[in-house]
Amino acid sequence: MASPQIEVIFDENTATFTYVVYAAAGSECAIIDSVLDYDPVAGRTSTAAADRVIEFVHRRSLKVQWLLETHAHADHISAAPYLRRRLGGAIAIGDQIQVVQGVFKKIFNLQSEFLLDGTQFDHLFAPDEVFHIGDLRAQALHVPGHTPADMAYLVGQDVAFVGDTLFMPDLGTARCDFPGGSASALYRSAGRLLSLPPSTRLFVCHDYPPDGRHPACESTVAEQHAKNIHVRDGISESEFIAMRNQRDATLALPTLMLPSIQLNICAGVLPAAEENGVSYLKIPLNVAL
Ligand SMILES: [Fe+2]
Repeated sequence: MASPQIEVIFDENTATFTYVVYAAAGSECAIIDSVLDYDPVAGRTSTAAADRVIEFVHRRSLKVQWLLETHAHADHISAAPYLRRRLGGAIAIGDQIQVVQGVFKKIFNLQSEFLLDGTQFDHLFAPDEVFHIGDLRAQALHVPGHTPADMAYLVGQDVAFVGDTLFMPDLGTARCDFPGGSASALYRSAGRLLSLPPSTRLFVCHDYPPDGRHPACESTVAEQHAKNIHVRDGISESEFIAMRNQRDATLALPTLMLPSIQLNICAGVLPAAEENGVSYLKIPLNVAL
């Protein structure tokens, strides 16, 4: 089976990698983890990051089949609805998004019109569901821990998009303290990804490079086994959980968490405009998250 072509588009503002995955120029493609620019001071969205993706899709004459989310992000707003409008494609996420929707429906006091069945998305992947990007075979792996709904997308035989379940080896893993997160689940999910063949190429969703290193998005299963500072060979589940919980207790919430999550549990669709034509976000005050 042919290896997929991968275009990497890095958004510096949110340290997010968006990927375009396809077999060849002119074929179908999937866009993974797109970013809608958002200025929280002005309350203004814009599309410079997503427009770079559109420009690439046009340049390679690709047909967008999928707009994939690895999870409901807490650090950036998805541009999937904007890309769907401009390019087509189905917005998809793991079916456990329903659990995440339940948690945040309470936090944001969303009304009964907000359904907890994931129907805001075009498609919900069951764990391990096989799907296709044109002629490329792909599989949606359920890898909970960072959130209950995290997915990794395996494309072809040797490429996986791991979302926030693994970072580059010198950063380790993502936090597990968001509502519904679980360090023990993340340890097991990381183990599942590390059971892929050693040469499997792993692409991360974010990178926050230490001083002196440029942002990087790709490692291999073998490199993660040898060097991941949190889950390399020899680190037990109990050691990992103790480290993760201790570290998570020191982390501030992401700046864009409240705007991002309330939109991303709705597939990134902005709230309906009120009678004055303006959409509003909702910020819960003094609620423990
Ligand atoms: Fe995340």
